[in-house]
Amino acid sequence: MGWRLKDKAKVIEIGEKFIIAPEDVKTDRIKITLAEGKSFGTGVHETTVSCIEVMETLDLKDKSVLDVGIGSGILSIAAMKLKAKRAVGFDIEKFAIDECKKNAKLNNVDIDCFVADSPAAVDEKFDLVIANIFDDIILSMKDEILRVLKKDGHLLLSGVLIEENFKVKRAFEESGLRVLKNIFLEEYTTILLKREEK
Ligand SMILES: C[S@@+](CC[C@H](N)C(=O)[O-])C[C@H]1O[C@@H](n2cnc3c(N)ncnc32)[C@H](O)[C@@H]1O
Repeated sequence: MGWRLKDKAKVIEIGEKFIIAPEDVKTDRIKITLAEGKSFGTGVHETTVSCIEVMETLDLKDKSVLDVGIGSGILSIAAMKLKAKRAVGFDIEKFAIDECKKNAKLNNVDIDCFVADSPAAVDEKFDLVIANIFDDIILSMKDEILRVLKKDGHLLLSGVLIEENFKVKRAFEESGLRVLKNIFLEEYTTILLKREEK
């Protein structure tokens, strides 16, 4: 991903509002600038793009967000630029956390990010939990994801293979969440759910 700072011509527009671009690019869109690095989350992968497209349709003003498998920090940065009040995220990779901190600084946002392998490491509840991570990992974390999701909170899942979509969707529906969006991409799917307490 060496082009990120070197090739000024390379910019990626995402959804209606966002653009991934180097620092000196002038734009009316909400800009995310990413430092050079090797972590996942450059804005080119269909799952990242799809998460941002869904996030920009949500009202995140003053909301808290947990980013499971934060990678470069791109989704947490997007959340903060959509006026979330707090973004917390973790990743199993130390290099991802280092890059995430660098990217948070570059974009003038605060992200509380650390190395961990499960939401079990987190002790608060969130308005939005995002997990763009393989479906088997999502399912293995299901109970912990639900534990950190507020009543009426949203859950945004991606990285779910097309053939695993039904299984993942059904697992969360059986836990009382309602599917708001189910988006089929080329290889993966993105699912937006809402926890609705009766
Ligand atoms: C598909 S990438 C998503 C990165 C970024 N959130 C995005 O949407 O572009 C998945 C990330 O999850 C991390 N990961 C994999 N297993 C994990 C686990 N058990 N706990 C936390 N992070 C994990 C990987 O290191 C990788 O950075």
